[in-house]
Amino acid sequence: TATRSYEYIQVSEPRPGVGQVTLNRPKALNALSTPLITELNTALRTFQSSPSISAIVLTGSERAFAAGADIKEMAPLTFSQAYTTSFIESWSDLTTALKKPLIAAVSGHALGGGCELALMADILYCTRTANFGQPEIKLGTIPGAGGSQRLTRAVGKAKAMELVLTGKSFSGEEAEKWGVAARVFEGYGELMEGALGTAETIAGYSRVAVQAAKEVVNRSQELGLRDGVEYERRVFHGLFGSRDQKIGMEAFAGKKKAEWSHE
Ligand code: CAA
Repeated sequence: TATRSYEYIQVSEPRPGVGQVTLNRPKALNALSTPLITELNTALRTFQSSPSISAIVLTGSERAFAAGADIKEMAPLTFSQAYTTSFIESWSDLTTALKKPLIAAVSGHALGGGCELALMADILYCTRTANFGQPEIKLGTIPGAGGSQRLTRAVGKAKAMELVLTGKSFSGEEAEKWGVAARVFEGYGELMEGALGTAETIAGYSRVAVQAAKEVVNRSQELGLRDGVEYERRVFHGLFGSRDQKIGMEAFAGKKKAEWSHE
């Protein structure tokens, strides 16, 4: 089942239609070792294929979302090992395999690969004191899971360049101010309440429309404006072929609550 047990993560279904993955490697502040990422990918794929799950929350602990890739695992890696195993590439599975919305709920450290993992989510929520950063430069390397690209798109070149070259951290409060985080919360309890509440709201909508909405917003990061707008319109037109478009609009006209078919 979706809630089978893992070694480095915990999986639950805390609200109707909502799946939760909690990174759980406390001794290493949730450092993202290859076995952890393998479990994370398995859990996300299981949620993706589960008909009872519509939205997913990914979190860590109050102290650490994730303190980065596992430095002890990486230290002895050679170029040819990294290259031939496509080290880190499997992290991106969550951006390609997962069609359901993913909300990252970040408290504590989100450094290096932890920051990059959070940036892969569709919605990022955090606590005011969350500690984001790309400190790879201090280790003699650079971000390797999309940080230089996603952070730059999120905050612009000026700030991203400063952050990647100095390795300095930024707070949850700054993340919200700079548009990295959609919302900021005072404490971990409020953060989880907010993330699960948003996931539950999304889970209350048509899964067809939700998947299309996620897809078109994400496309805006890849396409020029004219192509992006045209892509959106094609998908919008396509939704007239769904049952839920009829159900939603007829419910509005009839002043009733829509009962989605997810078709
Ligand atoms: N990898 C492996 N182990 C890690 C780790 C990491 N990224 N981050 C923390 N740990 C381990 C520590 O080694 C320590 O283990 P031991 O008890 O066995 O010594 C344990 O977690 C607790 O950490 P600290 O004692 O250091 O805790 P702290 O509260 O004093 O400091 C911290 C917290 C500031 C986050 C500090 O742990 C730290 O700087 N961690 C590394 C952050 C970092 O550089 N991340 C980037 C990694 S590179 C990367 O991610 C590449 C990429 O782009 C994909």
